[in-house]
Amino acid sequence: MSVIVSASVLSADFCRLGEELDRIRLSGAEHIHFDVMDGVFVNNISYGIPVLSALRKHTDMFIDAHLMIIDPMKYIDAFADNGADMITFHVESKSDPDKALDAIHAKGKLAGISVKPATPIDAIYPYLHKADNILVMTVEPGFGGQGFIPENVEKIKALKSYIDENGINVHIQADGGINAETSGIVRNAGADILVAGSYLFKTADMSAAVSAMRG
Ligand code: DX5
Ligand code: ZN
Repeated sequence: MSVIVSASVLSADFCRLGEELDRIRLSGAEHIHFDVMDGVFVNNISYGIPVLSALRKHTDMFIDAHLMIIDPMKYIDAFADNGADMITFHVESKSDPDKALDAIHAKGKLAGISVKPATPIDAIYPYLHKADNILVMTVEPGFGGQGFIPENVEKIKALKSYIDENGINVHIQADGGINAETSGIVRNAGADILVAGSYLFKTADMSAAVSAMRG
């Protein structure tokens, strides 16, 4: 499977978001990763629907919304109607995963489930048959710029083996502390969507950084 690079705008310059989106497009990254934090599910607040809507007006690139919020079910329609192409929520949230996956698909969008580092990967196995994406967090959700937690590589490997053994077609997304070096580790473990924020935005040459992530 070829690797998809998703640039997390959490590390972008918010005063120049339009130019940052242009920079992502020129870099060759395929997806824009949009991290939503509500100050309840995680101890930080990022941005929400009005900012997503502004991004959507500026770009036709694929937008991958990562909802780190306590009640994703309540906001699925709003994220779908305002520009998200894929909506990924956390299995640790209070929404019923089956119902949330159905609600996202009912809006014609791709649907994903995410696991925090402390959550065993088999927590999402009951929902794999209807998910398009599994996001394995490789840092604690809440902030960009943290160090990669190596223990999560085993979860990616276990998930990759399980989906291959069961003939399930689902993306495996790695998010948090991804750079040129850790990209190789998660790719070898089976991840095929790699999210990076600080690594991509803090470099002078984003295209070279995207290429380095592909290996
Ligand atoms: C963390 C977010 C990540 C974050 C990644 O809670 O889900 O998407 O933006 O940032 P880096 O690549 O800097 O770890
Ligand atoms: Zn994210």
